[in-house]
Amino acid sequence: MDESESANKKIAKESVNVSWGGRFNEPIDDFVKRFTASLSFDKRLFDEDILGSIAHAQMLEHVGILTSGETEKIVNGLEQIKKEIVNNKFNWLLELEDVHMNIEAALVQRIGAVGKKLHTGRSRNDQVATDLRLWLRNQIDSINTLLFNLQRGIIELASYHSGTIMPGFTHLQIAQPVTLGHHLLAWNEMLERDYGRLTDCRARLNQCPLGAAALAGTTFPIDRKFTASKLGFARPTVNSLDSVSDRDFAIEFCSVASILMSHLSRMAEELVLWTSAQFNFVTLPDRFCTGSSIMPQKKNPDVPELVRGKSGRITGNLMALLTIMKSQPLAYNKDNQEDKEPLFDSVDTVSDCLRAFADMIPNIKVGEDNMLEAAAKGFSTATDLADYLVNKNVPFREAHEIVGQSVAFAIVQGLELHQLSLFQMRQFSTKIEEDVFDILTAKGSVASRAHFGGTSPAVVAEAANRAMTTIKSR
Ligand code: ARG
Repeated sequence: MDESESANKKIAKESVNVSWGGRFNEPIDDFVKRFTASLSFDKRLFDEDILGSIAHAQMLEHVGILTSGETEKIVNGLEQIKKEIVNNKFNWLLELEDVHMNIEAALVQRIGAVGKKLHTGRSRNDQVATDLRLWLRNQIDSINTLLFNLQRGIIELASYHSGTIMPGFTHLQIAQPVTLGHHLLAWNEMLERDYGRLTDCRARLNQCPLGAAALAGTTFPIDRKFTASKLGFARPTVNSLDSVSDRDFAIEFCSVASILMSHLSRMAEELVLWTSAQFNFVTLPDRFCTGSSIMPQKKNPDVPELVRGKSGRITGNLMALLTIMKSQPLAYNKDNQEDKEPLFDSVDTVSDCLRAFADMIPNIKVGEDNMLEAAAKGFSTATDLADYLVNKNVPFREAHEIVGQSVAFAIVQGLELHQLSLFQMRQFSTKIEEDVFDILTAKGSVASRAHFGGTSPAVVAEAANRAMTTIKSR
């Protein structure tokens, strides 16, 4: 090897990645550097990364691996770095691959050799698993607040509209009258289950992987319970191999998020239908809509439509994570780096959609008259007529037949049931009397469904009160 060749080799070796370059003889290819780096998306874990490092350093001091002076330097250094990052003064280097190595390198640069002791008994594998759990735990807490706001808005609206009558649908055909409050509280039930699932997900993820190191644990006398409790985790994870390879918590969140988004998409769809001229049940505030560049009359329900559309990517993110994890051998594999973007996107998207709906739904304008008018259409009280006959001792199947004939007759006449005369109705059953008209109205129909879980205004008002107490007791 001539002199210049050996000098080149030396330069190349120096530019090899500082943290793991020991065994490498040539610098990493520029494209590969970009291809393997996660910095562009994982830098948003900086806060959790620093928190985890501080807890780790304090644990190392606690077990006598670091002196208190060393720990202090490390903690101060990390806090400085955090400030720099928050103030946008931090110099992120792609060469350093990810958030973990950027922060560690900056620490060494700042406090010197002591900084190199921080990684004792730790690996990026348990570090990233910890960061991600900490981050997701925080995000779930914020999402729960957004969810609370949306539920509160829906419940308040439901309470206000406990007596507002609208058609209830099956197959999107008018079925039976219900109250708008009842319909809104059905939305709330969906969200209440989502809250339960988020809470379960949070409880299951709340374990600390730190100490698993690369995969097999460490030879140092670490105290994993100490680190776990410093970080507010319920306990350390049980198995070191599982600790660094498990991404169930991310999959579980994305699955919970998919169900939540499917609920939002159902609400969105109903709002889109209800705002159409054909239904004309509600009006959205202008600020949640846009116009058309060619049709001046248009007011499009963009926000609900987008929420409906975004549910697709959330399901996509779940599929991505399941597929990333499928067939991976134990323990950590670089595949796992692909967990972040889908997870981050699900968190961001769900948060945005919840925020938009929490803002929009309490401000919808309800066209009560149109709803009531629609509720009276479509023979929506046919079941009430059948129940009326049953109460007059007609067996239900027979009553069903009688009402069927009455409906067929009304269709031919171009009338609704309540528009038939008593005489016309009595062709089908002489059990029908003057009092039938009370139950043929939408109002009578909803009022008579007064059992627990029913749609009568009184029951709905009570249900809204209970729902509010439930969310406020969280
Ligand atoms: N950036 C990596 C990730 O997100 C950190 C862990 C890297 N570990 C490793 N052995 N290459 O998964």
